[in-house]
Amino acid sequence: MRVAIVGATGAVGSTMLGIMRERSFPADEVVPFASERSAGRTIDWGDRNLTVAPLTDETIQGFELALFSAGSGVSEEWGPRFADAGAVIVDNSSYWRMKDDVPLVVSEVNPEALANHNGIVANPNCSTMQMVVALKPILDTAGIERLVISTYQAVSGTGQRAVDELHSQTRAVLEATEIPPAQIYPHQIAFNAMPQVESFKDGDDYTTEERKMMAETRKILGDDSIRISATCVRIPVYTGHSESVNVQTRDDLSPEQCRELLATAPGVKVLDDPANGIYPLAIDAAGGDDVLVGRIRRDSSQDRCLNLWVVGDNLRKGAALNAVQLAELLNVRGLLRAAA
Ligand SMILES: NC(=O)c1ccc[n+]([C@@H]2O[C@H](COP(=O)([O-])OP(=O)(O)OC[C@H]3O[C@@H](n4cnc5c(N)ncnc54)[C@H](OP(=O)(O)O)[C@@H]3O)[C@@H](O)[C@H]2O)c1
Repeated sequence: MRVAIVGATGAVGSTMLGIMRERSFPADEVVPFASERSAGRTIDWGDRNLTVAPLTDETIQGFELALFSAGSGVSEEWGPRFADAGAVIVDNSSYWRMKDDVPLVVSEVNPEALANHNGIVANPNCSTMQMVVALKPILDTAGIERLVISTYQAVSGTGQRAVDELHSQTRAVLEATEIPPAQIYPHQIAFNAMPQVESFKDGDDYTTEERKMMAETRKILGDDSIRISATCVRIPVYTGHSESVNVQTRDDLSPEQCRELLATAPGVKVLDDPANGIYPLAIDAAGGDDVLVGRIRRDSSQDRCLNLWVVGDNLRKGAALNAVQLAELLNVRGLLRAAA
């Protein structure tokens, strides 16, 4: 199988390449693509050296699979072109996610949706992804009526330049030198908490990230009736999104039942012994594949409500790992097409 990685030099793309090696992804050939700036660069990929190619009508021919993480504009323009040339696309950007004919898939939650693809499959937003992995067993057992979510999101979710911005601002504060002005974020991120993830658009008082969480969660869980309110906050953590999730179920579910359900759920690890300081932490989730869930407790201010603390690696399960898992499923289920 020939596989294209579009955006291979970025935070998500390089993580996808690493995960493909870790999981021995059955690719005969992998071709990394990035912007013109990076064309010709070599990427060390285990025992192979890969040369970064530019996107042209000639270079995109002959692939069965293309994993995209180069932003919405590139996905909009080049996704259909790869698909026309015979590849199935797994796209990390937000561009295709809410289109009716594009399945939005989390490997542990709705893998059956892959069968309906028309050449493009969308990978959800990182904060949505980790949350729905934890919510799926609850939905199947007790139903979900309402979610109130507050996120505490890491800077690597914005890409490599945001990581650099946090680093240089933090160093300046610690060394008492002049703090470099914010360029990626609207305010200083070092030693701060910012209740704006992405942007406020068209007079909306929810951010685009909050809108994505609400819409994508309903699409993945296949239930438009779930009432959802999200507040997304950026914090000065490099990797690992943390989320406070308040779940109102349809049927009663005790914290003990919830813990039992999640203990056997795929992709989830329960860490819930708070009296002994055991609960999910961003530093423990970073670099791992599991979504960590803890602080499971009743919200006695409402009927049938539980609080959960959900933490995941935004670059791995939140993006790259799920994309590779979807690619594996497309392959084993015979859902890839013969390259043109
Ligand atoms: N970071 C996350 O946690 C996360 C999670 C879910 C989804 N995503 C999505 O994944 C995508 C990539 O995010 P990222 O964090 O990896 O960003 P990033 O670190 O900034 O990397 C962007 C990648 O896209 C390439 N690129 C940029 N413009 C291009 C063009 N015109 N043609 C071809 N390649 C181009 C870059 O190549 P050069 O190196 O040559 O510039 C680089 O490889 C975005 O759509 C983002 O929303 C990110």
